[in-house]
Amino acid sequence: MSSSTLDVPAVERLVAAAVAAPSLHNTQPWRFRFDTDMPAVYIHAAADRVLRHIDPVGRAVHLSVGCAVLNLRVAAAHFGWEPVTRLLPCPDRPALLARVRLAESVRVAPSTGLYEAVWRRRSSRYPFSGRALPSDLLAELADTAHLEGAALRFPGRDDTERVLRATREAEWRNRADADRAAESRRLVSSAHSLGLPSAAVSPQDALDRMPMRDFGAHRHPQVLPARAFETHPTLALLSTAHDRRTDWLRAGQALEHVLLLATRHGVRASLLHQAMEWPDLRRALDGLPADGPRQYTQMVIRLGYGPEGPASPRRPVEEVVEADA
Ligand SMILES: Cc1cc2nc3c(=O)[nH]c(=O)nc-3n(C[C@H](O)[C@H](O)[C@H](O)COP(=O)(O)O)c2cc1C
Repeated sequence: MSSSTLDVPAVERLVAAAVAAPSLHNTQPWRFRFDTDMPAVYIHAAADRVLRHIDPVGRAVHLSVGCAVLNLRVAAAHFGWEPVTRLLPCPDRPALLARVRLAESVRVAPSTGLYEAVWRRRSSRYPFSGRALPSDLLAELADTAHLEGAALRFPGRDDTERVLRATREAEWRNRADADRAAESRRLVSSAHSLGLPSAAVSPQDALDRMPMRDFGAHRHPQVLPARAFETHPTLALLSTAHDRRTDWLRAGQALEHVLLLATRHGVRASLLHQAMEWPDLRRALDGLPADGPRQYTQMVIRLGYGPEGPASPRRPVEEVVEADA
């Protein structure tokens, strides 16, 4: 099958799909350049969109960009290309995080349903029902993460409690840390056209068990609406064997692949990243489960059945595309 041409509408379609990806606090820390001759897409980290107190080493920037790369790959395949991804392709250009070459497709790829999921996926920070996820779906999600070079583990009851405890501790620390709290609060303003709309701000667990992120870092969180969250949440720990920049980018692609597959199956998700932002708390999760190999935890994902989350704004395509590669 011959490939599509990388013209302006094609560029717009690819970038629109890429920017639909999740990102830390909806910072959207990416920029895109195109080489129409090769053809290829170059994805850079946007230095001006880094949260330097919450994400001092840029791990979450890499995760977010990894999510955007996965969406771009899904869109490229949907429009008839074979995406060939290279992470950190130029050692002397550290902000260039990935190159996706759009190779000619030799066969018609069967539809995976993932492209449609790119548009339907949203974080849902509402309480989920207690309905368990089918075990074959959990296995499929784990296989998907594995395909992307990461691992997805589902902790049992005791380990779930450990994860929730570490996340609660991180959430308390985040609220108490003046710099991080100010950085987070800045993104939650109705006047801020790119951050988190007030509809995206989550209700808090009335029983104080589920540590939903308080983006407004309220000193008195009881002012927030309280709801009853599921008592036995399904959590998934996404991890990698190493903790280098390429692992963070792989973890981002694995995260988004898992989220799109979950969306395709009608499963909602929200992310609990707080413990990842404190090295000691993150390390405490690396050994779970105790009888498994030690891994580097990259994300805690909460999965379940429940209401769809609200739409969050995205930067327009022309703001994130630069002239040429
Ligand atoms: C690295 C990373 C960390 C995130 N951390 C959290 C979190 O701790 N709590 C949360 O509710 N959402 C978290 N999110 C989700 C973002 O807030 C969300 O993707 C963004 O606001 C855009 O909204 P959407 O996912 O509905 O498109 C995180 C996303 C990424 C990529």
